[in-house]
Amino acid sequence: MPEFFSYSHIEAAVQVLEERILTKPGVGLILGSGLNPLADVVQDRVAVPYREIPHFPVSTVEGHIGQLVFGRLEGQSVVVMQGRPHYYEGYSMAEVTFPVRVMQVLGIEILIVTNAAGGLNSEFQVADVMLITDHINLIGMGGANPLRGPNLSEFGPRFPDMSGAYDAHLRAVAQQVAVAAGVPLRQGVYISLAGPSFETPADLRFLRLIGADAVGMSTVPEVTVARHGGTRVLGLSGISNVLPEPGVSVETTHEEVLEAGRVLVPRLEALVRGVLRSL
Ligand code: HPA
Repeated sequence: MPEFFSYSHIEAAVQVLEERILTKPGVGLILGSGLNPLADVVQDRVAVPYREIPHFPVSTVEGHIGQLVFGRLEGQSVVVMQGRPHYYEGYSMAEVTFPVRVMQVLGIEILIVTNAAGGLNSEFQVADVMLITDHINLIGMGGANPLRGPNLSEFGPRFPDMSGAYDAHLRAVAQQVAVAAGVPLRQGVYISLAGPSFETPADLRFLRLIGADAVGMSTVPEVTVARHGGTRVLGLSGISNVLPEPGVSVETTHEEVLEAGRVLVPRLEALVRGVLRSL
């Protein structure tokens, strides 16, 4: 595996996919937090396993789904990543974000990303959905930025702008959809850590101090690469757990986590479907 991918690596993957798909996707979806079944209901479905796509990150975990699903969802031509690589699994940032590059060359203009996150904002409750307004690229600041290495000028400039990373129009659409669907929608700043260990109390104090509302272990690398290539982004976090305030002990039971999923999955699905319908 090369340390960085060149445009020809991306083209090799695109070529394999273009031979198999019927229509060009306009919207890419990276679904975390139990939303993977949405890929099963895509219409006119063409699924391509990651292992059949050159340079794609393939999970070594037995039984782990890893495929790109092409087709139509709520009237949009979509490509869904069913299975998402994480940095903590040992993939490089280049590998984690390679699928975004491939989706960009295939023609997506919009990327919708969902994830599970821990709530840092004291107003948040378990099973809330947070519309991501901005992110803090803490791992990137520490050096693991997915754009490190030779710049792929076919996509964007060496020093890309990251203001307005989460598209204002798409956020407005999501808010309208949430009102219509009766889904309460919070807003805030997402921070991603490398993981896989959870946060210490001192970590949590720091994350709150620097302005994060929710914490997770994904999304920021993919969004950084999406924005470099000019792809518009909508991000939604499902708050799977709330993180303790100093001096407060919060006990999270397995039952609560399952219950959060039962509420979150239909909420996130309603939002994603509603946004797709409104595009
Ligand atoms: N911390 C980090 N990542 C997470 C959490 C959390 O509490 N919940 C879901 N993803």
